Amino acid sequence: MSIVRINAITVPRERADELVGRFAARAGEVSKSPGFEAFELLRPSDDRDVFLVYTRWSTQEDFDNWANSQAFQQGHRAHNTQGPVSSASELWSFDVVQHEEAGATS
Ligand code: HEM
Repeated sequence: MSIVRINAITVPRERADELVGRFAARAGEVSKSPGFEAFELLRPSDDRDVFLVYTRWSTQEDFDNWANSQAFQQGHRAHNTQGPVSSASELWSFDVVQHEEAGATS
């Protein structure tokens, strides 16, 4: 089964649109990485101030390879050159134990 790695980013409400803008201009490198399965940027629609960057991978090794790659650096270029929009970030790790999508099960 796949693994999920989520970067949980705390973003002050007044900078939320700026974060969305950065992702709109994202490198798109992640989807070319071996073992990549899915990416979603999840914006809070309740009163929280934590965005979730959801990524799903075939194996832990695939995630580690991407996280240590040039593609990761490239994907975080604006963050690295223009400074963070976030005030905190935390990596959350999960194993997928069940999965279902409309039209597909595994
Ligand atoms: C210090 C921790 C991190 C912060 C503050 C952060 C923040 C950001 C920001 C602001 C962007 C938009 C592009 C940019 O501004 O450069 C971005 C891109 C991205 N981040 Fe992070 N990030 C961090 C670490 C991680 C980690 C550990 C993951 C793994 C789940 C991750 C997943 C992604 C992905 C998938 C993209 C899009 C890259 C692409 O399209 O190739 N980030 N991140």
